[in-house]
Amino acid sequence: MQSNKKIVLKEHPKGAVQASHFDQITAPMPTLASKHFILRNHYLSMDSGFRQWMNADAGDGYLPGMQIGDPIQSIVIGEVIESDNSAYPVSSIVLARTAWEQFSLLDGSDLCSILNVDSELELYHYGGTLGTTGLTAYFGLNDIGQPKAGDTLLVSTAAGAVGNVVCQLGKAAGCRVIGITGSQDKCRWLDSSLDIDGSINYKEAQTLSEQIAQACPQGIDIFFDNVGGAQLDAALNNINDNARIVLCGAMSQYESDSI
Ligand SMILES: NC(=O)c1ccc[n+]([C@@H]2O[C@H](COP(=O)([O-])OP(=O)(O)OC[C@H]3O[C@@H](n4cnc5c(N)ncnc54)[C@H](OP(=O)(O)O)[C@@H]3O)[C@@H](O)[C@H]2O)c1
Repeated sequence: MQSNKKIVLKEHPKGAVQASHFDQITAPMPTLASKHFILRNHYLSMDSGFRQWMNADAGDGYLPGMQIGDPIQSIVIGEVIESDNSAYPVSSIVLARTAWEQFSLLDGSDLCSILNVDSELELYHYGGTLGTTGLTAYFGLNDIGQPKAGDTLLVSTAAGAVGNVVCQLGKAAGCRVIGITGSQDKCRWLDSSLDIDGSINYKEAQTLSEQIAQACPQGIDIFFDNVGGAQLDAALNNINDNARIVLCGAMSQYESDSI
């Protein structure tokens, strides 16, 4: 009988995540249940935002905290291999929120949808720019940020999965885009590959607020915030009247014991 390898939570992290917080177990392959389907998972996500759900108490977020022994939560891209659910026929390629495991038994009730895959693209793109990450960037910037040509857009974690898409969408909308990130290599990549208008390495900035003021002499019209904390404070020191602030995430807070 085929088995199902899973990565489960061994210990709630205090601070940074370590390999010792995880365990690998081998469970039996799930058995098809009524109205369910079985997904063979090809790609698993490792989302920084999921760190907050590794706490026993995840606060008021939209997912409960993981308990010891629970599979690690993840976005997956997989293929339906058995089905008793007419909405998810065998061979469908599906994006779902489930767990770090080889096979998932699902009923389609949580975040789950069939992908209309372009065969010329690698499947993993649907776990990033063409998946929930790209949608987060797109709707955060367009619905909340409402970019207009000539706006100054400041993006934190600009070289990250969401941030780099926001930078590119901002440029396409005609904004002047400034990115904040954590290394010179990432600054070079933002400046040369994404061709944004300026980047700031917050780890080398003596006073981040002043560096933002220099990079954004007209002030900030849109701040796309992935980090919170000191970077949010520094951006607010330079914010314009009628600016839009997209509170996408709070990376600087996720490693605290509770949020
Ligand atoms: N991915 C999604 O689909 C999604 C959906 C909803 C919300 N979000 C939110 O969007 C934000 C970005 O997510 P992502 O998936 O794009 O992240 P990501 O690509 O995994 O970003 C990781 C980067 O975050 C920065 N970082 C890590 N720890 C930090 C800390 N303590 N303080 C400041 N920066 C830190 C580092 O970049 P630097 O070197 O630049 O500091 C790191 O390389 C998160 O707040 C997440 O909760 C994401």
